[in-house]
Amino acid sequence: MKVVKTVADLRAAVTHARSEGKRIGFVPTMGNLHAGHIALVDTAGQHADFVAASIFVNPLQFGPNEDLASYPRTLAADQDKLAEAGCHLLFTPSVEEMYPNGQALQTIVRVPGVSEGLCGGSRPGHFDGVSTVVNKLFNMVLPDLAVFGEKDFQQLAVIRTMVRDLNMPIQIIGEPIVRAHDGLALSSRNGYLNADERATAPVLHRTLSQLADAIRRGERDYSALLDSGKQALEAAGLRPDYLEIRNALDLQPATGEHRELVILAAAFLGKTRLIDNLVVQTS
Ligand code: PAJ
Repeated sequence: MKVVKTVADLRAAVTHARSEGKRIGFVPTMGNLHAGHIALVDTAGQHADFVAASIFVNPLQFGPNEDLASYPRTLAADQDKLAEAGCHLLFTPSVEEMYPNGQALQTIVRVPGVSEGLCGGSRPGHFDGVSTVVNKLFNMVLPDLAVFGEKDFQQLAVIRTMVRDLNMPIQIIGEPIVRAHDGLALSSRNGYLNADERATAPVLHRTLSQLADAIRRGERDYSALLDSGKQALEAAGLRPDYLEIRNALDLQPATGEHRELVILAAAFLGKTRLIDNLVVQTS
């Protein structure tokens, strides 16, 4: 696996692969890689001949009181995992390489609507940071396809909307959530949990599963369901940030008409903010 740090070297490597007729797949990450990230690389490899990944902890998507400074940076281990997974090219730019003019950007990519509410409500500016950096990375790599996890369901919806609205010729593939044996969605932030918190954390997925079961059984009083879900989270020691049921296709509030719903949650456990979601088909 080739590792490059500059946009010029990245472009040269991708141009060479393309000159050999290869289809380029791309997996953007912030590093501290786990099996969820590796699943994205595997999927990219199934759809492309040449897989490029990036590791960049993007300051633009962190709020002033968030964990930018403490976000885990484990480049050597990440490189080994990517090489083993068959990734061909890794881009690890510095902040200066990505933002040569500091963060005083002239151009911000904003995707209103789908980026509002949920995580966008709790983390003002977060999705502007995500859509801007992903747009920049897309323009640097020029991939044929890119793979994103359904773990960050709203992020995936924001990226799909951006690509559609801006006519970007990039196929976006969603990867199902990879979970630990006890149901906890794998996340780089799980490393912040102490042993007690780690033992409690699967309650988030369990609660979403219980709500999904109730919906499948025909329960349609969503507001009562969500109240009971919040109570279950609080009883276990989590502090819900949001718990909502939305239409899975556009993240609009769920109505009786919608057939594919998604239950989305964010909750604090100690200082750690966990997110999770579950898609439910109604009949
Ligand atoms: P990061 O949190 O590192 O996640 C990189 C990709 O891995 C995202 O598409 C995310 O949804 C996916 N992912 C994380 N955990 C997963 C899991 N348990 N199962 C499946 N996929 C999972 O998301 C970001 O970085 C950044 O916002 C980024 C898109 C790189 C822009 O900076």
